[in-house]
Amino acid sequence: MTIGVFDSGFGGLTVLSALLRQLPEYDYLYLGDSARAPYGIRSPEVIDEFSRQAVARLFGEGCPLVVVACNTVSARALRNLQQKFLPVHFPDHRILGVVRPSAEELAGLPPGAIPGITPPTLADGTVAVLGTSGTVASGSYRLELAKLAPRLRIVQKACPMWVPLVENGELSGPGTDHFLHQILDPLLAVPEQRPAKILLACTHYPLLLPSIRPMVPANIEIISQGALMAERLADWLRRHPEMETRLRKNGVRQYVTTDDPVWFSEQGSKILGTTIRVERLHLP
Ligand code: DGL
Repeated sequence: MTIGVFDSGFGGLTVLSALLRQLPEYDYLYLGDSARAPYGIRSPEVIDEFSRQAVARLFGEGCPLVVVACNTVSARALRNLQQKFLPVHFPDHRILGVVRPSAEELAGLPPGAIPGITPPTLADGTVAVLGTSGTVASGSYRLELAKLAPRLRIVQKACPMWVPLVENGELSGPGTDHFLHQILDPLLAVPEQRPAKILLACTHYPLLLPSIRPMVPANIEIISQGALMAERLADWLRRHPEMETRLRKNGVRQYVTTDDPVWFSEQGSKILGTTIRVERLHLP
């Protein structure tokens, strides 16, 4: 039994890479639905359908636990997957997304906070969430933060050009800087309203971090999701021994994509810093 990691494409390898660092003993199967990416601009119905197909395939490949690295899927489709799909078709399987753990991190709460049970933090100030159009339009981060940290002001910004930049390998240079400034400058324009934390709420954005960091004052924390997901997955596994004991610990890694495996391997090997062998998979 393997941990499945699902993303619309190769960006989720930024999350997998942190999981491999912190939890190397487990077996992982990564699925990137590159043939149908980007998801960020698609309608909720389509994201729902694609996600159900991908998650069902990972379950079928022997993954009782799927980590959804994709923010767009976590924001748009996770609730349906967890509340409508799992109970009917796979009641002993689990799907974890990135929105709740990231909202906990923004709120400064420890892993496993339960809205309605864990007292919300009274922290105030401003936090910013940068994501795809789909993630921002879903309002999921706003909803989670309203429960976990009702006094926090949240500024959300869709960055539609950032994923294409990464997909095309444009991680730095004047063209890239233009599109980064386009988002960051208005966010930072009024010193009193600057966010204390900026969440990179998209799998691809951490790859732009070396270009983003110098544009943002050093006292503003920029949060990538890999490390926080690794920490919170470790905590979740400790609290769910019924799942943890089902997982194989042979350090096996498998990678599948719905598009060209050679291209995926090139992109993925750069992110993971090691050559990966990728196989083609057809969905549904
Ligand atoms: N994986 C998506 C996310 O994290 C970004 C790429 C896409 O739009 O498919 O939101």
